[in-house]
Amino acid sequence: MASDQNKAYFNDQAASYDSKHEKTIEHIIEEIRSRLDFIGVDWVDDDDDDASDGDAGGADEKTPRKTVRLLDYACGTGLVSRALAPHTTQCIGIDLAENMVAAYNSRAKNQGLTPEEMHAYQGNLCSPSDPSPSHLSGREFWGFDIAAVGLGFHHFDDPALAARRLVERLRVGGVLLVLDFLPHEKMETSEPAAHTITRHGFSEDEIRKIFEDAGAAENFGLEDVAVVFNRGREGKPDMKRRLFIARGTKSA
Ligand SMILES: C[S@@+](CC[C@H](N)C(=O)[O-])C[C@H]1O[C@@H](n2cnc3c(N)ncnc32)[C@H](O)[C@@H]1O
Repeated sequence: MASDQNKAYFNDQAASYDSKHEKTIEHIIEEIRSRLDFIGVDWVDDDDDDASDGDAGGADEKTPRKTVRLLDYACGTGLVSRALAPHTTQCIGIDLAENMVAAYNSRAKNQGLTPEEMHAYQGNLCSPSDPSPSHLSGREFWGFDIAAVGLGFHHFDDPALAARRLVERLRVGGVLLVLDFLPHEKMETSEPAAHTITRHGFSEDEIRKIFEDAGAAENFGLEDVAVVFNRGREGKPDMKRRLFIARGTKSA
């Protein structure tokens, strides 16, 4: 199973992941943030923070605050959560590798966020034999406005199963967001990460079908983004790759 290889590999990578990929991560965060309208969630903005302050329109202290809840699956150290946190009220991360989860949580804490605002849990929603692990079954793990996977699909044994499991956790009208590689050349088998990879990218048709089969094909859209990996890493040549950012809405 790729999941065993991934857990071991990313536990090992967790301490250096952010510093190794700093420039690429910053770039991808910018690309996500520049597509808030394309992603199409009813994001929170500064005005929403005032909902409980009382105003001429009659809002009082009891006015419920608008919430936008993100499930960041295969969250790693929190790239997608950091990109979208300013526009959401809660980010919940889930990742197979406990050291990635620890890195996510320590970054969130260092940014002054409470666990209610941003917190990750170790876990696997893609196990064929355990569709809903008991520690990820509480109310807080359901009814998300957006479920996202950043650079996780090419590591999954069964990306279509992952999409179905994530869409189950969205509210109707919620958005599935997937960011991953478009088809690319095979990685050298001598590369340490090679055994963690199950796919060398995805075509638009494959991704559209995965969204359709998962029940999140409404207003499906896919955009491609050119990204350079290894930028600024000593001894590593730049690696140019084309990513896609795909979104679809869960229908009733
Ligand atoms: C390339 S990293 C991406 C991390 C982060 N989303 C980002 O964009 O920086 C892939 C992540 O997927 C996680 N992962 C791999 N297989 C998984 C699975 N079946 N369930 C949950 N997480 C998984 C790994 O532990 C790793 O943190």
